[in-house]
Amino acid sequence: MKKLMELMAEELSAAFEKAGYDPSYGKVTVSNRPDLCEYQCNGAMAGAKAYKKAPFMIADEVVANLGESRVFSMAEVVKPGFINLKVKEDFLAEYLEKLAADEKLSVNAAKTPKTIIIDYGGPNVAKPLHVGHLRSAIIGESIKRIGRFVGHKVIGDVHLGDWGLQMGLIITELKHREPGLVYFDDSYTGEYPKEAPFTIGELEEIYPAASARSKDDEEFRAEALEATHLLQQGKPGYMALWNHIMEVSVSDLKKNYNNLNVTFDLWKKESDAQPYIPDMVEEMKQKGFAYEDQGALVVDVKEESDTKEIPPCMLLKSDGASLYTTTDLATIKERMELFNPDEILYVVDKRQELHFIQVFRCARKTGLVNEDTKLFFLGFGTMNGKDGKPFKTREGGVMRLENLIADINEEMYRKIVENRSVKDKDAGETARIVGLSAIKYGDLSNQATKDYIFDVDRFTSFEGNTGPYILYTIVRIKSILNRYCEEGGDLEAGRMLAAVNESEKNLMLQLTGFGATVENAFEEKAPHKICAYIYEVSNAFNRFYHETKILTEEDPAQKQSFVKLLVLTRNILETSIELLGFSAPDRM
Ligand code: ARG
Repeated sequence: MKKLMELMAEELSAAFEKAGYDPSYGKVTVSNRPDLCEYQCNGAMAGAKAYKKAPFMIADEVVANLGESRVFSMAEVVKPGFINLKVKEDFLAEYLEKLAADEKLSVNAAKTPKTIIIDYGGPNVAKPLHVGHLRSAIIGESIKRIGRFVGHKVIGDVHLGDWGLQMGLIITELKHREPGLVYFDDSYTGEYPKEAPFTIGELEEIYPAASARSKDDEEFRAEALEATHLLQQGKPGYMALWNHIMEVSVSDLKKNYNNLNVTFDLWKKESDAQPYIPDMVEEMKQKGFAYEDQGALVVDVKEESDTKEIPPCMLLKSDGASLYTTTDLATIKERMELFNPDEILYVVDKRQELHFIQVFRCARKTGLVNEDTKLFFLGFGTMNGKDGKPFKTREGGVMRLENLIADINEEMYRKIVENRSVKDKDAGETARIVGLSAIKYGDLSNQATKDYIFDVDRFTSFEGNTGPYILYTIVRIKSILNRYCEEGGDLEAGRMLAAVNESEKNLMLQLTGFGATVENAFEEKAPHKICAYIYEVSNAFNRFYHETKILTEEDPAQKQSFVKLLVLTRNILETSIELLGFSAPDRM
């Protein structure tokens, strides 16, 4: 369906054209003087140059041509030549009726749906999820949902880190602790045990111990590098251990992502790209892109316009081992073969930008992707503590995701019980739902590329620009609607009438912005635009709520109209938070 702004622009364009001007001057924008008007058209200002005429003369002619408009209740020329506009209340009510009936609430489906792979999450197997992985999961999940809503085929891939040094470290540490395990017996030819020789708890202790040891034990580190390489070559005992590590940690990861309302279509991993590496490397050599440099195999990726040095992309180390770049390139090859995507989007810490510049350039230069395949890096900023440094535990250690969530839920529980509107029985579950909104909204309401401060007190507040505030607004609407139904009201009855006051009209106008907001949020990969939008809608609703008697309205048709507006507001808010990746409870 057409956006309200388009309908307004159509009227103005026709009026420009009628007066002999180019219709493209009829663009309408939201007013920057809300005290004077709701929308404005600056086309006469722009046209003045082209037509060598005073802007207000053009504006006057245009406004005269608008005549008795079905859309505008006011079209006024102000010096030097702006056209100030207000929308007719009954036209707006009619528009909202259509909006409410539209399945996508005025979001128009993409004309040419694309296949888009989103690479997000990116946890490393055997390492506990920490807050660094939180942003990727939250932002990626939201963009995936928005992309689907606007009609694209979006495939989310967790792209597990399972092929790097951490695997060699774990294997080596295990070998030191339990050298007698069959996995380390090179002469063993039987079947390996089904049961893993460790639990997730043990695994999470083994990795940090090994990692710490490798920092000051050269020999141990060398051993781990060697083990990593042997694993990558498929040494049977190590592959069996790798399988155990995978099994144990993937089920733990799934549990954690579930708690975050984050789901992936693909649980692929770095190692899945391994079979694509030999051919890919061979081809790059043969085409003359890859050459040897101090034993390593590299591809040059610098470009003339570079202002800073972009080092060559390394394909293989001197011992033939593959690297992070190698698996990422081979994964591109794999994705092209399996899905032939139009676009691959990476939601990864912005400190990895150079890596992705190298990978993208190499992929393009060597023809791994089609000319029109878009590779896009969405680098996000760091989540900091109140001290402005990367978020840590009180003791200064790396914060585990589980603990962060538990902390938020505890704080949320405290606040909800304090509010006392919910019986203890469901307060725990409510705290979990609202807590997730606090974390996700706290993150998503910031522009992704920027660092932000994770502030538990602020994020869990029911007031201000927070997740709980948005949920509180939704719950408020739901409870009014419930009461209306309990009193025998029918949500479907009646129709929307012209706004009765300023605050109702403002809410109505806000609701018309949903479609453009969502389309734009996807285009710019910017969920924060949806946050900003629903904050405005919530404010507009609460103002309306405080100024208007809704259920005590005596005129039945008017009451039905209010109720319809409430239903639409609820639908828009609930659809929005669904796109952000959280939901609202029934009560709070
Ligand atoms: N596992 C990586 C890390 O923790 C992130 C993976 C991002 N995705 C990718 N295709 N490189 O840093």
